[in-house]
Amino acid sequence: MLKGKTIILGVTGCIAAYKAATLVSRLKDLDAEVWVVMTAEAAQLVGPLTFRTLSGNPVILDLYSQEIATPVPHISLSQKADLLVIAPATANMIGKIAGGLADDALSTMALSTTAKKLLAPGMNCEMWRNPAVAANSEKIVKLGWELIGPEEGKLACGDLDIGRMSEPEEIISRIIELLVAPRDLKGKKILITAGGTREQIDPVRYLANRSSGKMGYAIAKAASRRGAAVTLISANASLPVPAGVRLVEVESAREMLAAVAGGAQNADAVIMAAAVADFKVKSKRAKIKKGKGLVLELEATSDILKKLAGKKGKRKLVGFALETENLVKNAKKKLAEKNLDLIFANGPENFGSDQARGVLIDRAGRRVDLPLADKETIASRILDAIF
Ligand code: CTP
Repeated sequence: MLKGKTIILGVTGCIAAYKAATLVSRLKDLDAEVWVVMTAEAAQLVGPLTFRTLSGNPVILDLYSQEIATPVPHISLSQKADLLVIAPATANMIGKIAGGLADDALSTMALSTTAKKLLAPGMNCEMWRNPAVAANSEKIVKLGWELIGPEEGKLACGDLDIGRMSEPEEIISRIIELLVAPRDLKGKKILITAGGTREQIDPVRYLANRSSGKMGYAIAKAASRRGAAVTLISANASLPVPAGVRLVEVESAREMLAAVAGGAQNADAVIMAAAVADFKVKSKRAKIKKGKGLVLELEATSDILKKLAGKKGKRKLVGFALETENLVKNAKKKLAEKNLDLIFANGPENFGSDQARGVLIDRAGRRVDLPLADKETIASRILDAIF
């Protein structure tokens, strides 16, 4: 599957470094040419000979290795590569990439490569949550890196928390997607909504919901990668905009309706992943002063999907159903009422998480259960079901 592809695998000093050996062996099974670059810390954890044996190539430990035929491997190899994947990637390596630093072979290659770039963080939960690491991770996504994980699970310190490197099989699937992903959506125009709308109560307060926007952004990313022209109508999500995606920012249900109505005209599919407020405050007013109590009179917002359903045409309409009970029954009802082609039924536990699970139901009543997976994996499955 990966014949003819050159992959540089960077390994840094996280205990999951031993899992990188599985990665090399799987990549070799798939016929990729693999070169391993290790930091000095990684070489303390796993012997370079392991990677040399598995990859069949010398392991790059520094910039001055005599063993590699080309004189400047960090340039020649990184130019030749189709993909640089760093797994596991420590907080330190993420920070170096974010800062544009190049003080070892791997960080130098990270800076000089024009290949696709994937990074699988692996570290202690508190390190991952550290605002500096969070900011660096966000920054490298903006610089064109794809991130996979980290996942929740047992950490080296014994804690059950976030920080575990994604499993090698998941990383391999992402690599395949990145290198041999079908461009099967080329020529399609897709409108996607994401995030949660806000309805103003007074000039300083609003009604909101817990949607992070991650699901809609993951669909936008997957669709764009598969060649579609994607417009993402985003309500109050602070997430990096996927490469190639046109972003329209909105705040309220009303603004979202206007943006969708404008964009849906010539879209081949509209995917409403956003959590749209069902109610808004009836009357506009100045800042409400404190008192004993408060009664807000709410009125219904317009149902965006229902409005589209009237003049559906050939356009595919996809909805999300958020349910706390009778998941499938309620989702089927929404599918029928909103004249949808497909609905993804899920529970509130997916809110804010990097992973999701749910049930896909189509017009014919066919149902596919999607077990817990990365939101990008779920996104791909949803796209597969639409087209
Ligand atoms: N939706 C919409 N406009 C609204 C409310 C929801 O287009 N004003 C869309 C959502 O984006 C989603 C689907 O309709 O794709 C179902 O949303 P959901 O909140 O699960 O259901 P509701 O239709 O709002 O019904 P209820 O809240 O009563 O379950």
